[in-house]
Amino acid sequence: MNKVLVTGGLGFIGSHTVVELQNEGFEVVVIDNLSNSSIEVLEGIHRITGTKPHYENIDLRDKSAVQYFFKKHNDITGIIHFAASKAVGESVENPLLYYENNINSLVYILQELIHLTQSNFIFSSSCTVYGQAEKMPITEDATVQPANSPYGNTKQIGEEIITDVAKVSNINSILLRYFNPIGAHSSAEIGELPLGIPQNLVPFITQTAFGLRKELSVYGNDYPTPDGTCIRDYIHVVDLAKAHVIALQRLLKKQNLENVETFNLGTGRGSSVIEVISAFEKVSGQKLPYKIVGRREGDVIAAYANTDKANTVLGWKAKSSLEEALSSAWNWEQKIRS
Ligand code: UD1
Repeated sequence: MNKVLVTGGLGFIGSHTVVELQNEGFEVVVIDNLSNSSIEVLEGIHRITGTKPHYENIDLRDKSAVQYFFKKHNDITGIIHFAASKAVGESVENPLLYYENNINSLVYILQELIHLTQSNFIFSSSCTVYGQAEKMPITEDATVQPANSPYGNTKQIGEEIITDVAKVSNINSILLRYFNPIGAHSSAEIGELPLGIPQNLVPFITQTAFGLRKELSVYGNDYPTPDGTCIRDYIHVVDLAKAHVIALQRLLKKQNLENVETFNLGTGRGSSVIEVISAFEKVSGQKLPYKIVGRREGDVIAAYANTDKANTVLGWKAKSSLEEALSSAWNWEQKIRS
């Protein structure tokens, strides 16, 4: 059985990926320092799959702990690296935390992987690397634009570090550029657990609908889009999780054509903030209180994926609709508050 390490495996995308890996018969080892997750997620994974993954509470900024981990687990054949900080605003306020957390950890892991005969490495990247792309939908060969936050910069630097290391080592890697992951597992056993006031649209919507927030602020309706609000590509987290399993299998079966490959993971469909609100109102059957406020600094006008490469090369396609994803997010919100 292939033994796979999932760093950040108790986080939002990580936990859903652990479920899909276990469903496909992988033996999973999770590392998570619980900085933005909860130990109870292990139980949720157990309830869904019938298996509790092996778990270690390791801070990946601790180089000797990383070294010790790989000595102990010298039979790992694949790594999916999610562990990273992801709040854009926080990264502007505390850039060193982001560079330490997101870059040091990556370097320490790669320093161990270069000694392995087989190292298959999946990296969590983001569509943020494209900034405001000139053409929609965005293809993987669109220019990587200068990052507008330290968080975004850590994703770009991460991609560059992996590319440089892969040139001189046995590392094979797939860089997955996510668009906007939303939703929760259909069982409502795992989902997104934002710390404090949610910064992302969908958790803010579900918390507002539940009555935890007074109203949603829509950041700007004067953008050059059909209804004036920003457009994003919202992808169900379970679809996204499945893409990780497929990407890993591609590396394990040595089907990759280059030692570093890059794929966009989105639905290919762009939705405006107003469209998301309407879809949410439809699936929840209730009106969402919201007001239009000024633009949020750093927001791009539109970002949605051209998914042809993932569809044809990986043989993966997002299956869930926006409504299905929002409905799962709403079920999850109600479940955790009950
Ligand atoms: C954000 C990050 C992105 C990161 C991703 C991680 C920014 C500029 N980008 O993506 O780099 O990879 O999160 O999850 O922060 N909106 C509102 N009201 C709200 C919240 C959001 O109107 O309370 C709007 C935003 O203006 C945007 C859309 O909803 O148009 C989506 O926002 P969000 O969920 O924060 O995702 P991104 O900004 O696309």
